[in-house]
Amino acid sequence: MTTPPNVKREQYKTLLKQLDLLLINSVDEIANSANFCALIKQTFDFHWVGIYRVFKEELMLGTFQGPVACVRIPFGQGVCGSAWQQEKTIIVDNVNEYPGHIACSASSQSEIVIPIFKYKEPSHSLDGNKSKAVIAVLDIDADILNAFDSVDSYYLEQSVELLSRYL
Ligand code: SME
Repeated sequence: MTTPPNVKREQYKTLLKQLDLLLINSVDEIANSANFCALIKQTFDFHWVGIYRVFKEELMLGTFQGPVACVRIPFGQGVCGSAWQQEKTIIVDNVNEYPGHIACSASSQSEIVIPIFKYKEPSHSLDGNKSKAVIAVLDIDADILNAFDSVDSYYLEQSVELLSRYL
């Protein structure tokens, strides 16, 4: 059953407050990203919540909660590789209808992938603009169709922005 938008909003607001307390500067990035995935999984009981990190020319499986998953995803392939390539959040209402979807679990029905950016300070003092690059993606799979909407993307983008400060 889909959670009503007002309930979901409240859950996300609580999640953001919890993340603020959970993510710690003094511990390494694996500890922070592991707890990040665990908190999302625990809050919404999604089928799979995980992070794929940009490693050389592909995405590499990072911390996750849920069934075993594929380890490598090439740039531009699957939902994760496409979100990396397009540098934007992708919501898939029905993964069976998404061309090139990489099926890791037969239970996955819908999906959201959010790119995680790292902002770099300008290398030249006269160049005022910060440049940003995708360093990872957050991938969430649900075992129901149409599980994700603009409420999810709005709050999950804020969540990964918070996490990116610790990566
Ligand atoms: N669904 C992803 C592959 C990763 S698994 O879902 C964990 C994709 O098509 O990019």
